[in-house]
Amino acid sequence: MPELLLHLADGMEALWEDVQRELDTGDLPPPFWAFAWLGGQALARYVIDRPQEVRELSVLDLATGSGLVALAAARAGAASVRAVDVDPLCRVAVDLNAEANGLRVDFEQADLLDAAPPEVDVLLAGDVFYDAEMSARVLPWLQAAHAQGTRVLLGDPVRHYLPQTGLVVLAEHDVPTTRDLEGVELKRVRILTFG
Ligand SMILES: C[S@@+](CC[C@H](N)C(=O)[O-])C[C@H]1O[C@@H](n2cnc3c(N)ncnc32)[C@H](O)[C@@H]1O
Repeated sequence: MPELLLHLADGMEALWEDVQRELDTGDLPPPFWAFAWLGGQALARYVIDRPQEVRELSVLDLATGSGLVALAAARAGAASVRAVDVDPLCRVAVDLNAEANGLRVDFEQADLLDAAPPEVDVLLAGDVFYDAEMSARVLPWLQAAHAQGTRVLLGDPVRHYLPQTGLVVLAEHDVPTTRDLEGVELKRVRILTFG
């Protein structure tokens, strides 16, 4: 994604330990916000390459992490971009990354999954099927968004919990990653929507 600049960490474990020590608030989730995950990278690429998917539309990036996908939507000309994540530390990463690119996205720390999806034109979600609990919660919510007329676009490297049915592949990208994060240096990632 040469079109966007991100503040990124080199390795997960050392940063995670540093953050736990620095904040001293007990067990924290992994610092997802310090990495560009495979699904997010591919979805950001897709949105930048096809700006018509978001241009002048209202966009919500669910599970934004670093803000990468939200920033891609802003760069592609979205009318408004909400970047939502449960982790409050994402706010710092999203704000720093937005500033680095001269873009505006509105971060919101929230768990939206227990209520009906908000009325937005486009819902983007990069790499949200990464564990059983999140996948079980996010799938019906994304399906509800699709059913109410929202364009739902997902980026996923075919993780174990990605649903096997009901999704249509719109594109595929070979995405660079690190052995530290994913055990490989390149992975094929799908862009999907509900069929
Ligand atoms: C693998 S990261 C993906 C981040 C980003 N989309 C990307 O592709 O780089 C998963 C993200 O999901 C967030 N998350 C987990 N549960 C969530 C929920 N209920 N609502 C919003 N975000 C959530 C985590 O905090 C984390 O930032």
